[in-house]
Amino acid sequence: MLESIYLKLAKVKGGRNLRKIISFYRKIFGEKNPGKINFKFSDKPSRLKVVQEIIEIKKFNSYLEIGTFDDELFSYIKCGRKIGVDPYSGGTHRMTSDEFFLKNSEKFDCIFIDGLHHYKQVKKDIENSISILNDKGIIFLHDCLPNSVEAQAVPRTEVHWNGDVWKAFVEVRCNPLLDCYTCYADYGIGVILKRKNRNLLNIDNKNFAKLRFVEFYNNYKTLMNLILYDELKKII
Ligand SMILES: C[S@@+](CC[C@H](N)C(=O)[O-])C[C@H]1O[C@@H](n2cnc3c(N)ncnc32)[C@H](O)[C@@H]1O
Repeated sequence: MLESIYLKLAKVKGGRNLRKIISFYRKIFGEKNPGKINFKFSDKPSRLKVVQEIIEIKKFNSYLEIGTFDDELFSYIKCGRKIGVDPYSGGTHRMTSDEFFLKNSEKFDCIFIDGLHHYKQVKKDIENSISILNDKGIIFLHDCLPNSVEAQAVPRTEVHWNGDVWKAFVEVRCNPLLDCYTCYADYGIGVILKRKNRNLLNIDNKNFAKLRFVEFYNNYKTLMNLILYDELKKII
């Protein structure tokens, strides 16, 4: 009963009061809160640096960004062909990622996924991106390292919010045909390469949507295959 009231409230687009109600509900009935991880991103490279440098190292010619917002990243990136998809702002295509993938027939060297940060949507964005990624290409996935249970809880209640992107990333970590890392930079940049998985993750709970933050808190280095940017440059 309470769960269904909560879900109804969560569907209503609301302001501060609704977010407070949801937060309050979560504190009482939600998942266990193990505390903050205290990731420190201020001394790590930005997504702008990581993506642009890798485009240059790999001599990539085409770039797709899913979720462009105010074009902070999209306008920074220099690449032969650039496509940006967002239903509300920025980029070149005013539509959802699902609509884009339905119409698109192009392939890309580099894809930055940063649209709707909900597990199911991220999973779809990853699968669709893999199908249009050139063989030697790279997919980046933003917001893979949430600092707290609230930062990854859906629906969003926090200003600094990553959503449950990490659950979709854990799922690809279990795919033997995809090699995946999380670069410790800019709220966690997931990296997906189309090649044999060099560090396959094997976990008991294959119901990825139901993973709990406490599992992430206790085991994020292994789950996410965490590496520093300098290591990433050597691996790719
Ligand atoms: C975090 S912002 C993107 C920031 C940008 N990538 C950057 O690095 O500066 C997320 C964006 O995703 C967009 N978005 C939400 N739902 C989407 C969807 N279904 N498909 C594509 N973009 C979506 C939002 O409109 C928002 O602008």
